[in-house]
Amino acid sequence: MAALADLAQALQRLEAQGLAAIGAATSLAALEQLRVNYLGKKGELSQILRGMGQLPPAERPQIGALANQVKDRLQEALTQRVTAVQAAQLQARLQAETLDVTMPGWGYAPGRAHPLQAMIQRVLAVFVGLGYQVVQGPEVETDYYNFAALNFLPDHPARDMQDTYYLPDGRLLRTHTSTVQIRYMEAHQPPVRIVVPGRVYRRDAVDATHSAMFHQVEILAVERGLRFTDLKGTLIAFVRALFGDIPVRFRASYFPFTEPSAEVDLQWRGRWLEVLGCGMVHPNVLRTVGYDPEQYTGFAAGLGIERLAMIFHEIDDIRRFYTSDLRFLTQF
Ligand code: DAH
Repeated sequence: MAALADLAQALQRLEAQGLAAIGAATSLAALEQLRVNYLGKKGELSQILRGMGQLPPAERPQIGALANQVKDRLQEALTQRVTAVQAAQLQARLQAETLDVTMPGWGYAPGRAHPLQAMIQRVLAVFVGLGYQVVQGPEVETDYYNFAALNFLPDHPARDMQDTYYLPDGRLLRTHTSTVQIRYMEAHQPPVRIVVPGRVYRRDAVDATHSAMFHQVEILAVERGLRFTDLKGTLIAFVRALFGDIPVRFRASYFPFTEPSAEVDLQWRGRWLEVLGCGMVHPNVLRTVGYDPEQYTGFAAGLGIERLAMIFHEIDDIRRFYTSDLRFLTQF
């Protein structure tokens, strides 16, 4: 009898202690520790229940039922307390994270397109809008793609128009993007409509208007029945898209790979400025890539991006594009 009462009392004391400790706990870690201490396999409740073995069998159910009650209440108290502590932690976090919109901002400096890249994108966008496909080609080229296939004869003085950087192995840095006309036509049948952005290289003395490396965009269209008026219409549409309704002039010129050839000038702030070369693709060029010039005609153009950007933004020195001076670059 005494044993039964002792056990019952021990269980009640345990419950009271446990409930108090749980109620006072303020962290999840502490609550987990209490769970182990009170309800775990080696916890206090288990230890008390081990004393049950000494009771007469008839009394065991009574203590068993009481033990279960204590266990349930402690478990219930733990669960509630865990929920309460979690809620309090969340509340504290939300309070700590509250945004004070009156604080000064951090400010941040997003990147931006380099003025040359921006100009290339503008030019490409116009021609893509006209149905042209953007393609590119290698900067290290052979004499064949840079000159021979473009109808530059071996000793033709036109080769001197573009002073060339040669590599020790006889290859060269392309002097213009017209190389890609040949590469593309070799691999594709007409109709052709491509626009080709890229870097080109010339052995020029560097000054305010010359750089040893600069950027061009090449245009090529080939199909049955293309005429010079198609070239003019296309280029005028291009100039209008970029500069609006300004005077445009086609001036007869010479390039080995076009016949007839022209240069295009824009009237900008009272002066005529040359922006591109163009012409009807020379029959020899078409023949070289295996196109029949009796069936197909084409037009081509090449424009200098630096030139265009200098006009567009009124920049006086080409070297500004390459010195990465943020005071300059952040103006665009
Ligand atoms: N390749 C010429 C240059 O770099 C520019 C040019 C002129 C390209 C006429 C063309 C063209 O496609 O038809 O000076």
